[in-house]
Formats: sequence, C-alpha cells, structure tokens
Amino acid sequence: MQCRGKHICGGTIISAYWVITAAHCFVEGAMVDPAEWQVLVNSLSIGETLMGTRYRGLQVFSHPKYNSENNDYDVGLLRTARKIDMSDDVRPVCLPRESESFLTGANCWITGWGHTMEGGFIMTHLRQAQVKVVAQSVCSLPRVYGVFLTPRMICAGSMDGGVDSCQGDSGGPLLCETAMGEWRLAGVVSWGEGCARRNKPGVYTRVTQVMEWVGGYLED
Ligand code: ARG
Repeated sequence: MQCRGKHICGGTIISAYWVITAAHCFVEGAMVDPAEWQVLVNSLSIGETLMGTRYRGLQVFSHPKYNSENNDYDVGLLRTARKIDMSDDVRPVCLPRESESFLTGANCWITGWGHTMEGGFIMTHLRQAQVKVVAQSVCSLPRVYGVFLTPRMICAGSMDGGVDSCQGDSGGPLLCETAMGEWRLAGVVSWGEGCARRNKPGVYTRVTQVMEWVGGYLED
C-alpha cells in the first residue's frame, strides 16, 4: 500500500473492496486521508517497471479500540474506490472464525517489501519467510514482551532470532495453518523490538480477536 506514491505498509485483500492492514498505517499526516492511498495489486515488484493494478483508496478505518501507545487492536481497513479484479493470482485471503485457534509451533508465512535488517531499506521485490507461532505464555514472559503483550496480539518468528518481519512489512499478512490444516489469516504485522532479535519474535494483531469488527464491514 502506497501513500503519495511511496511504499508505507503491507495489506491483504479480504473481499472485492476491502484490504486489511494495521491501524498504525493510518495515523500520521497524509496517511489519514484515504485519497492519498493506492493499493498495488498483483505485482511482485515496486520498482521502475509498471506491473500490477493500482486501486485508489476511498475510505480508511482504524479499530475504535486501537491504542497507539501499546499497539493494542492494531488493525485497519481500506476500502478501494473500484472493485478489485479477481483472477487466479489475485484472490481474497481466508479469514479465521473467532473460535479458530492457531497452535504453538504452527507453520506460517509472512510476506512484504519491508527491511531485511534493522535500519535497512524498502525492497523492490516482494519477499517471504516462514515463521512459527510462539506460545502466548512464552511471548508474555518478562524477558520477551511481558505486560506489553495483550490478548489481541499473537507472536510468531523464532526465539533464536534470525527470521522476522521488519519496518515496512506492517499491515501485511501472517498466514498460518490451523490444526485442521487450513490456511487462514492469523495475524497482521504490527510491531516487535528491533527485527529478528533473539527472544524478540514479531508481534501480529490476532485476527480472531478483531473478527467481529472486521466482519461488520464485510457485509456490503
Ligand atoms: N511497525 C513496523 C512497520 O510499521 C513493523 C515492525 C515489525 N517488527 C518485527 N520485529 N516483526 O512496518
């Protein structure tokens, strides 16, 4: 998702008009204005070559309980001005049911154009990495994130570090396999202490916990 032509955040298509992302993508300056946003769809590259389709933003919403101090409820929605054309390569992600759970150690994929190291830069080509769900009990240990972890967050990555999302990946997907072997959007890239550090896995907005709010926009 680009604001004034610059890559700011990731996002995931959930229906013909809606892209789910992080609320913190919509907080500053021009980013609060839906008309300043463009969603680039079906492109693996944000370099010079014109690929994919651009959709202008029509509306942006942040979760009413979003807390910018601790990133609780860090989820937002962007409504595109035009219907997103679906194809074999462009289709909405499967959202989880509120009752669905992702087991500790479940397989997940993260994707984004974000930094490949702390203090790095935005990639021109989309990258992906495999991560695993970290137990909530482990992620809320004092040496990990302690009280900063809320029930609206899910951790994924590696406790040894080395693989993680990073700046510029925010709003993008954490896609995980459920116990039933189905792939669902388990999280939205939200925050972390540094990137890929030992004992500091990535923190994602727990999608099951915000489905009620998201679902309210999916009706129309
Ligand atoms: N807040 C960052 C962004 O705006 C995402 C950081 C994710 N960090 C992590 N270590 N997983 O792009």
